[in-house]
Amino acid sequence: MKKKTHDNSADTLALLGGKPVGRVQSPPFPQFSARAKRRVVELLDTGHTVGLGKHDKIIREAEDAISRYHGGLYCLGTSSGHGALQMALAGLEIGPGDEVITTPFTWGASISCILHQGAIPIFADIDRKTGLIDPNSIEAVITKRTRAILAVHIFGQPAPMSRIMKIAAKHGLVVVEDGSQAHGATIGGRMVGGFGHAAGFSCMGGKLLATTEAGYMVTPDEDVYWKACLLSQHMGRSPDAGFPDRLRPYVDSLVYTYRLNPVNAVLLTEQLKKLDREIEARRTNVDSLRENLSDSPFLSIPIYPKTVRPSFHLLTMSFNARRAGISRDTYIAALKAEGLPVFSYVPAPIPDWHRLHWKGYQGPRILWMDALKRNGIDYTKSEVPNCRYKIAHSVEMGFNFTRPAPRLMERAGEIVRKVDHAIRDLRAWEAGRQ
Ligand SMILES: Cc1ncc(COP(=O)(O)O)c(C=O)c1O
Repeated sequence: MKKKTHDNSADTLALLGGKPVGRVQSPPFPQFSARAKRRVVELLDTGHTVGLGKHDKIIREAEDAISRYHGGLYCLGTSSGHGALQMALAGLEIGPGDEVITTPFTWGASISCILHQGAIPIFADIDRKTGLIDPNSIEAVITKRTRAILAVHIFGQPAPMSRIMKIAAKHGLVVVEDGSQAHGATIGGRMVGGFGHAAGFSCMGGKLLATTEAGYMVTPDEDVYWKACLLSQHMGRSPDAGFPDRLRPYVDSLVYTYRLNPVNAVLLTEQLKKLDREIEARRTNVDSLRENLSDSPFLSIPIYPKTVRPSFHLLTMSFNARRAGISRDTYIAALKAEGLPVFSYVPAPIPDWHRLHWKGYQGPRILWMDALKRNGIDYTKSEVPNCRYKIAHSVEMGFNFTRPAPRLMERAGEIVRKVDHAIRDLRAWEAGRQ
């Protein structure tokens, strides 16, 4: 049952000059334990600021903890999520000319990791409610050059991995998961990052497992792990136990500098200890918000199958613009003015972005243009109607509510009720602006 703390639904909207309901503000994020801070100072005091692999005990401690979290997968800590994803592709030897099928609805780094390998992103379509890649649209874009599928668990929602893995097996493809927004999300009790052949995760300061800037790659395949190591940092982790002799001739410093530093390794170790607790609180808060929004005719939270447990890095919702008779942007403006921190996350389908179009491109020179041109890639032909729909109707909300926050979720419901109640005023306001 929806909770009514105060019925202000007849009040003038803040967007139209009335008094706002009040901020639905999460506490500062990320927060670090006293132990984490003490350990960072210790590293700085002792000059322990570089660590090149598992022979460094601080790096090993973090990577072992992450590996345990992911059920024993090999783990390579990195300086960013982008680096982790690129090294996942490198470890799988995805390279020049290979096509990688992926989503048009994500953060750009899910795509630029492919481009930085000289490979070609090819866009499938998405589900209109969740924004996750739609397996039905993957097979239509498979060609003889397709080598991989890169699935993104956007907003902490797990992509439909069992169907993706079936398609991959049928066509002999490898699968990379981008779990940057989805640490700890599960399908049938299995954690994302453990379905594909490799996965990359971001641990920058805004993510579920937040440090300053960091990431990690995980893989069930030892060979993939060492090949990724070889390219990710100087010496390619060759001093570590188990480094394969057959890779020794290729150890040098012709590498990317994607190494994890000990300061972030300590933060990873310490932050991981509270990750599950924080994810549970996020879930509790989404349940509570769902209840508070249950009467909204215009705004809804996706419903997930019972087996799926998102981790809610951000919350994605759908706005019914046809029923409301106003644009999504007007609705967002009204909610924001009342104090709800909502926005639209993806500005346009990625195949529309300027830096993927070599025809008529006037911007600064960029690594991948030649490859796109040589391969005759024309992204204007990408058919992603569901992605366009999602972008026009999507409402996202920052969701760093890492402790149960029933009052704030009630306030969010109050804001939505107030705006919904005044939808006629918003129609008039929008019409007056045209
Ligand atoms: C889905 C997704 N993939 C990749 C990245 C890249 O991570 P990073 O910024 O750590 O390189 C991010 C976040 O920034 C992301 O949200």
